[in-house]
Amino acid sequence: MPLIFDCDTGIDDSLALLYLLAHPSADLRAVLSTGGNVPTDVVCANNLAWLQLCGRDDIEVCVGADGPLETPLMTTEETHGPLGIGYAELPVATSTQSHRDAADAWIELTAENPGEYVGLVTGPLTNLALAIRRDPLLPSRLRRLVIMGGVFHQGGNTTPTTEWNIAVDPEAAKEVFAAFGQDGTPRPIICPLDLTETIRMTPDHLGRLAALAESSPVEQPGPDDEPGTRSVADNVIVRHLVDAVRFYFEFHEAQSEGYIAHMHDPFAAAVALDPSITGIRHACVDVEVDGTLTRGTTVADERGFWNRPVNAEIATTTEPDLFFDDLIDRIAAFAIAVQNSSTVS
Ligand code: BDR
Ligand code: CA
Repeated sequence: MPLIFDCDTGIDDSLALLYLLAHPSADLRAVLSTGGNVPTDVVCANNLAWLQLCGRDDIEVCVGADGPLETPLMTTEETHGPLGIGYAELPVATSTQSHRDAADAWIELTAENPGEYVGLVTGPLTNLALAIRRDPLLPSRLRRLVIMGGVFHQGGNTTPTTEWNIAVDPEAAKEVFAAFGQDGTPRPIICPLDLTETIRMTPDHLGRLAALAESSPVEQPGPDDEPGTRSVADNVIVRHLVDAVRFYFEFHEAQSEGYIAHMHDPFAAAVALDPSITGIRHACVDVEVDGTLTRGTTVADERGFWNRPVNAEIATTTEPDLFFDDLIDRIAAFAIAVQNSSTVS
């Protein structure tokens, strides 16, 4: 399954990337970098670093726009760490970004293989919106599009009513949703916060992953640890993952969510590879861009009040235990494979 992954890496984006690299069904062709959790150039550096660490620097990495369509970029280092990957310090990649920008990659890859690509966006929708501005037929060339973003029936994580990816660039999100709904164009599957906040990674999950990856010592971060404790795991992927996710645990605990981490983006990655893991609700989805209190709010018309075509499928159900079993098994096996083939430590 050829995939385009557009992300703002990001701790949970990092896990989504590892999951895609680990999954036998995923043929990751391009990783596109959007500013969001951290600035675009830092996102790009993270993507290059993860891919090189995993021995996959053959995969194209593109830089996207410097910031949102109409507003300055806001970033959230307090959530994802100074460089977007928590406490992890990845070796700086010697590989370099692609000659083409992220929007052109969306356009050109889908033009080369119409109807083949699955698109996955786990950051703001800036690059995809720019691509659709340049090439309005792009949506019709996708096989599937999965978006982590928005919130519909609960409070937000950025303002009282907004989810981060949409709040960073509401205009982009509005333009992307408006580009779908025509006959023959696949509707994006939206994985909203309502659902992804049920994907709660716990220290036990990380411990299981380390043990399955035959990493030593098996570390299980906990709330009593000194904040910022660094991993000494001998498996390189496990070591960086523990350092990254520890930061996310500490952030969620500071938000009174408990010593857990919401794995929004890996869930969207799993849906991209297999939409049958979630239930679906059809709706016309739009984004408020004018509200003084509600700018960036996603609104779903599920009952046809607007008399506008359905343009999205909203993911509604999940089985977190099954999801984590799959994620842990695949990333652990991948971590062993990387370790065995790696000269990096
Ligand atoms: C989304 O915001 C980002 O901080 C995460 O990476 C995820 O994509 C959740 O609201
Ligand atoms: Ca993200």
